[in-house]
Amino acid sequence: MDYQILKPQSFGDIGVLTISRPKSLNALNSLFFTELLHFLDVVNTDEPYRVLILTGEGKAFVAGADIAEMVDLDSAGALRFSEKGQQILLMLEILPIPVIAAVNGYALGGGCELAMACDIRLASENALFGQPEVNLGLIPGYAGTQRLPRLIGLGNALKWILSGEPVDAREAYRLGLVQGVSPPEKLMDDAFKLARTIASRGPDAVKHAKRVMRKGIDLHFEKGMDLEKSYFAKQFEKEGEEGMKAFLEKRKPNW
Ligand code: CAA
Repeated sequence: MDYQILKPQSFGDIGVLTISRPKSLNALNSLFFTELLHFLDVVNTDEPYRVLILTGEGKAFVAGADIAEMVDLDSAGALRFSEKGQQILLMLEILPIPVIAAVNGYALGGGCELAMACDIRLASENALFGQPEVNLGLIPGYAGTQRLPRLIGLGNALKWILSGEPVDAREAYRLGLVQGVSPPEKLMDDAFKLARTIASRGPDAVKHAKRVMRKGIDLHFEKGMDLEKSYFAKQFEKEGEEGMKAFLEKRKPNW
């Protein structure tokens, strides 16, 4: 498939996926979702990367769902539109490898929701986050109402979504939505630095830790512990054995 909006690039074990529709501030249209679905399929099947970085071209990460596409939807169409976006972002969230959002600018509406479906968010100092849907007489439709309270707490999320006011990178960091803030010119370097660190660790350990945390957070605590111990045990089959031996033999592990 030839991508028109997505630009995938490989840097060894690290993939960078750039959303490239800068004239519309990378607004998410149906072609974007078709391409993302295909890309996720390839990543799941071929496993080309250990870590993926998602970013946007130009002054936006993503300025939201494409309002020009949404304006003609009736209620039944909006239900399908929301369902499709929710499902594809869920597929991104449950990708076995970690995904780092390098938020280079506007992350509004569906853009903020896309960033929230990633595992870790690093923001440029000039990034602006927000769920401005209420300004349009709408509410978030790509699971923002569900992910934001889990990430920053219900009170903060209610203030954020009900006011529709944007939040700058420092405030998003203070609230815990983003895990780092960088000068714009350093954002990708910082994202790569973190990606390389993660990619150097036990690949199955990284995948399994993500899976256990992602699944466990929605489970009863003791069910989460059950999940943890089963994956903890799995790691002793091969990778953990090598990692522990390497430590004791004072050498780098051979994953
Ligand atoms: N959908 C479609 N087009 C968009 C867009 C969007 N979400 N955001 C920006 N664009 C387009 C603009 O229409 C404009 O196109 P033209 O040049 O053809 O007029 C182009 O991108 C540049 O935008 P602006 O001229 O507005 O740029 P600006 O720098 O003056 O303002 C902005 C930037 C503050 C981000 C402003 O564009 C804006 O407010 N965008 C809309 C943000 C928004 O409301 N997002 C939520 C969408 S709803 C949603 O996402 C629902 C959901 O959860 C599923």
